[in-house]
Amino acid sequence: MALAYSYSNLAYIANEAWQKERNAIILSGVQHKVDMEKHRAVIQKSEDEVSHQKFLLYSVAIGLLIVLIALGMFLSQQGKLKNTYTKLIQSEKMAVLGQLSASIAHEVNTPLGAIKSSSEESIEAFPEILTELSWLMHTLNKEDKKAFMEFLVTSNPAGQTLSTKEEREIKKKIRDTFTELGVENNRYLADRLVQVGIYDIQPELATIAGHPHFGKLMQLTYNILNQQRSNQTIHLAVEKASRIVKALKTYIHTSNSDEMDTINVRDNIETVLTIYHNRLKQGIQVVKNYDDVQNIVGYPDKLNQVWTNLIVNAVQAMDNNGILNIGIQQQADYVVVSIKDSGKGIPIAIQSKIFDPFFTTKSKGEGSGLGLDIIKRIVEEHNATISFQSIEGEGTTFYVKIPVNKM
Ligand SMILES: Nc1ncnc2c1ncn2[C@@H]1O[C@H](COP(=O)(O)OP(=O)(O)OP(=O)(O)O)[C@@H](O)[C@H]1O
Ligand SMILES: [Mg+2]
Repeated sequence: MALAYSYSNLAYIANEAWQKERNAIILSGVQHKVDMEKHRAVIQKSEDEVSHQKFLLYSVAIGLLIVLIALGMFLSQQGKLKNTYTKLIQSEKMAVLGQLSASIAHEVNTPLGAIKSSSEESIEAFPEILTELSWLMHTLNKEDKKAFMEFLVTSNPAGQTLSTKEEREIKKKIRDTFTELGVENNRYLADRLVQVGIYDIQPELATIAGHPHFGKLMQLTYNILNQQRSNQTIHLAVEKASRIVKALKTYIHTSNSDEMDTINVRDNIETVLTIYHNRLKQGIQVVKNYDDVQNIVGYPDKLNQVWTNLIVNAVQAMDNNGILNIGIQQQADYVVVSIKDSGKGIPIAIQSKIFDPFFTTKSKGEGSGLGLDIIKRIVEEHNATISFQSIEGEGTTFYVKIPVNKM
């Protein structure tokens, strides 16, 4: 009995121990599971974080890519714009050169015409002069020859041209003096003398007035002085033609160079005025008001374009008739160029638009509305400024203020 009890007690103890062991195992399993869960949660959290980081990274990369693409597009657009702008300037230049060619052809043709007629006159008159001189040698006595030569040497023909009224008055005075001196055919002789620039009767002329061959002597005088006149005309015409050719050369030379240079603004403007002389001379009075100013540094070609466009605008605003004032002044470290016209002025309503590209009030073919836009860009390239004042019905003045050596 006691054995049975002990045995069952032992069995109970053993069972209890086993139960404990089992519970411990179960507990440790549960603990392990909990730990596993915890680890899994941590891992999950890390994974979430990693994917979040990845997402952020991808977003940044995509953002960067978009920025890069946009930048590329912007740069290529800028390049295209610059290209278009360069082409615009180029085509403006070509249009100006086209207009100029016609003007230049006309400008050079005028002195060439003068040279042609003067040289023809000279060639024709020369044999006649030789005949008359040989007559003079044989016919006149020593004193008469001396008196005639003295008159010729001192005759000093006037260079200035006369108004019709002045010419009429001078001819009348000469005729009256000839009448007093008893000279016949005085109307014809007075006309010829005035033609070669003799505007009054000097004592040397009065001395020979009584000569029996006075008419013939005056004819010889006319031929000799006319020869001199023709030579002067030829000389002036050649000077004029070479001035135009020189200006054209300067203009074309600068039109081909995109390089910065030291610029004398006065020469720069004078080149444009010489080139445009033909267009201006028809009804425009050009008044120049130039001070001695410092040289500036810039693009001569581009500045030519500024003056050309401003002058053309002024001439168009005046309908080819009026006064064009061009001023060059020094103001502290700036050279200020003013171009003033007596044209129709700019209405207040459009004053804020005139620098806009393609804004024009001119008919098709006369204006494209690019002149002032191009001028503005060129002015900005020179760190300069452009402004204007305008009164409707009275005229407009444009001012370009360029810094000296500040490029
Ligand atoms: N001196 C001026 N007097 C009156 N209006 C002017 C003057 N200069 C410019 N304008 C006005 O400003 C507008 C724009 O001038 P802009 O030079 O830009 O173009 P445009 O002369 O019309 O054409 P483009 O110069 O391309 O041949 C002109 O159409 C005109 O209405
Ligand atoms: Mg214009």
